[in-house]
Parts: sequence; structure tokens; C-alpha cells
Amino acid sequence: MTDIAFQKCINPSCGQTFGIDEVLFACSGCGDLLDVAYDWEKVSVPHDLRFFEQRWATKASPYDFSGVWRFREFLPFVEPKHIITIGEGRTILQRADLLARHIGHHTDKLFLQYEGLNPSGSFKDNGMTAAFSLARRLGKRRVACASTGNTSASLALFAGMSGVMQGIVFVGSGKIAYGKLSQALEYGALTLQIQGDFDACLRQVRAASDRLGLYLMNSVNPFRLEGQKTTMYRILEARDWQVPDWVIVPGGNLGNSSAFGKAFAELYELGLIRRIPRLAIINAIGANTLYQLHEVQGVCWNKGRVDNKAIENYYAKMDAEHIRARTVASAIEIGRPVNLKKALRSLEVCNGVVRQVSDEQIIEHKAMIGRYGFGCEPASAASVAGLHLLLDEGVISPSETVVCILTGHLLKDPDATVAYHSGLDMRKASPPARTEPSGKLSNRPVQVEDDFEAICKVLGEKTPSFSEEERQAFPSIAPLEMEY
Ligand code: F0G
Repeated sequence: MTDIAFQKCINPSCGQTFGIDEVLFACSGCGDLLDVAYDWEKVSVPHDLRFFEQRWATKASPYDFSGVWRFREFLPFVEPKHIITIGEGRTILQRADLLARHIGHHTDKLFLQYEGLNPSGSFKDNGMTAAFSLARRLGKRRVACASTGNTSASLALFAGMSGVMQGIVFVGSGKIAYGKLSQALEYGALTLQIQGDFDACLRQVRAASDRLGLYLMNSVNPFRLEGQKTTMYRILEARDWQVPDWVIVPGGNLGNSSAFGKAFAELYELGLIRRIPRLAIINAIGANTLYQLHEVQGVCWNKGRVDNKAIENYYAKMDAEHIRARTVASAIEIGRPVNLKKALRSLEVCNGVVRQVSDEQIIEHKAMIGRYGFGCEPASAASVAGLHLLLDEGVISPSETVVCILTGHLLKDPDATVAYHSGLDMRKASPPARTEPSGKLSNRPVQVEDDFEAICKVLGEKTPSFSEEERQAFPSIAPLEMEY
């Protein structure tokens, strides 16, 4: 695989390349983001996307069962023996006629892609399987992320199932929904509740990965985004390989937006699709950095010549005015999206638009999605709220085929749902009596200040060791033979 795949700086005027075993989360030449790139000449890519349909018949193989590795020819960076798969990506595309009628779209033209049906309940599993497989190849034992809740749930699940990796998650204290916090604890991750927001957590985990060698699993890790490309392949497959007119996605750290644009650019370049759908990225008004920079200030990818000064000035102003992201959609409460430039590139590739929606629009559309479908968590509903807005603006016509990505499961944030329907704040209604956890597997979160020294102290105290038996068990997660 090492001669097929490499890492490459996204800045065309730099374009420096690195091997896939180099642990880097930015170009060491110019500091820009990295892509995973391939020498497609050396990959046996199918001539027709229908090729992938035959893998439904061989789903007894864990690789063909996985909705990510089923499309392994499009992410050929890891050898089969390193793949860690837990049955991710078996998600579905549903036609949403009742919802369409409710918001004024043609009834057979609106589709919802339920990524909340992943094992950990969000789209993050698509990316985690990819990044964990590389971590296994690199022999990493401590993997870490900052999170608004879903990345941490997914990382904790994969680390727990690996048997030999310790998951360490940095979450903002009081900032993540209870369903997600419960997952990190139950799956056994070391859970650091930092006195700060997501942006502070990301700053700290990046420092910890640089200085303590933790392997970083946030979407700044380009291998994660390779897994997230597969959502687009599944949508195409569910539509009998017909490209929709629009894909609409909530924008937080902008990993999905970046991955989707890359997926379509590659399929187009390989001659496997004839047109690229348009992309709409939807911010919450309280966390609208991409909207402000792209739609208001006109910052574009511009063939790689991004106006870096405008971005720096925007962040400097945010800091000077103490502006922090704030929205009911806690999953996308992010002021400094790490994949900003890749998302700008996707907007260029997909002739995309960015919109912002209010918390009220988010929560009302979440209720509609639940009433007329399987439901979703607040951040996911931004996609349908965004569609409604774009229909009202006349940017999307009711006769166009639209796929809205529902990124997380309804049960991730039950407080938001109960509060909406009953006006009751479940956490405040009757505070449970505090006791010391006494269960045999209880895994208590650790409160830490937003201070690197304090974090190092906790990490120093909580270093795990794995027995030889546990190490031996590791390869059993997936059988080792598979062909590209
Ligand atoms: N929807 C949900 C449910 C999410 O959890 C996230 C991101 C997004 C949308 C935004 O996706 O970052 O690709 O633009 N959650 C991350 C986390 C930040 O830590 O769980 P994005």
C-alpha cells in the first residue's frame, strides 16, 4: 500500500508529499492541511460502480459487510491485516415523502441518509474505522480526540473493541449531550472533562498529541476523512448509482463537507460519475464561521489561493471580542473548524452554498424529522432546516432530488427532545443524589482545568498497560485475508 498511497499538502503552491507512516496533522513545510492521495494508476479501480453490488452476496466477510471497506478500492491505504472493523456504515437512505410535503418539496424527491444507524449512533464510525486501521498499522496504543460528543463515543467504542488501545477523550465540561457522555464512560475511555469549550479541548489534545505521542483521531487526521467519503458511495448505490442534484450536510468541524467533496472529485476524475451534485453546508447561527467567511466575506478556495489573512483577522476579532460558539445543536458548537480550507475546496468542486439556521429552526425541523421519520439529534436537523431555507430562497427547486444527511441518532440527546415536547429540563427536574460509583466496571470522568500541565498530570497517572493475552486477542477483531 505504501507505493499506492501517500499524504499530500492541500496547498497547490506547496504540494509537499509524505509517506503514510509519517504521523503529521499538518504539512511540515507550510502548515496547511494534508490529504490522503493515491497513485490511481496502481489501483485496480472498477470500471463501473455496479461492481460493488456483488459484495452484498459476500457479506459473511467482515470487509464486505462493512459499509466502508466494501468500497476499499477508493481508500487503498491500509493492508487488510490492519483493518479494524465493527460493522460500521450499514446505514440507509429513506425516501421522506411526508416530510417533503410538510416543507414544500416534491414528495418523491427528498431522501434522508440516516448515519445515526452506525454502531455508535453517528457518522463518526465511518471515519474511525479508517483512522483506527492506520493506528493499528503504526502500532499506536493511546488514541485521543477532542469532541462535542460523537467523536468521543465512536473513539471509545473502537478503542474498547480493539482490546489494546486506550481511548482518551477531551470533552467540554457540561458541553456534550448525556447520551454521548454515557457512551464514552461505558465503552471505557479515559474521559477528561475540560473546563472549556470544544475549541479549547482541540487545542489541548493537539498539544498532548505533539508532546506526549497520543495518536490524534479528530478529523484533522486525513485518514478519518477517507472513511467518511463512503457515505457518498452508499447514497449513490441506494439510488441505483444516480447522482442526486443536492447533498445537504450540517457543518461543524467540516470533516464531512471536506470528505464528500473529495469523494465526488475522485469519482469524477476516475470517470465513474458524469456530474457532481451541488453541496449545501448548514451552520448554526451561533457557530457560523464558515457562513461568515464564505458567504458574507466571500472567502473561497480560489484554486488553492485562499485569503489566509481574512481567516486570521476573523479569528483575531473573535478572540478580541470574546466570541464563543453557542447553539442548542451542541455537536456543531465549534468556532474554529479545523477543516475550513478543505470545506472551501469542496464548495468549489460541488458549486456549493453555505447557509445558517437559527436554534429555533433547528429544533422545529428536528421535531418534523421525528414526526415523519426515524428522528435525529439537533445538529443533524440543520440539514433539513437548511433545505427549507434554500427552498424558500428559490435556490433549490422542489423538483430537484435532495439528500439530507442525518448525522446522529435521536437518542444521542434525549434531554433536547424531552425539553422540546414537555418543557421539562430532565437534568434539573430532580437532581439525582450524588454517590461514589461502586460498579465493578465504573469508569468515572475526570474533571480537569483548561491547563496543559494539569492534563499531563492526569494522563501520567492513568497510563494503562496491556497483558500479553490482550495483545494476542487484538487480531481477532477481523480476519486477515482480503484482496484489493
Ligand atoms: N452532526 C453531528 C451529530 C456531529 O456530531 C458533528 C460533529 C457534526 C454534525 C458536524 O460534522 O465536523 O464533519 O462538520 N461532531 C464532532 C464531534 C465535532 O466531536 O463529535 P463535521
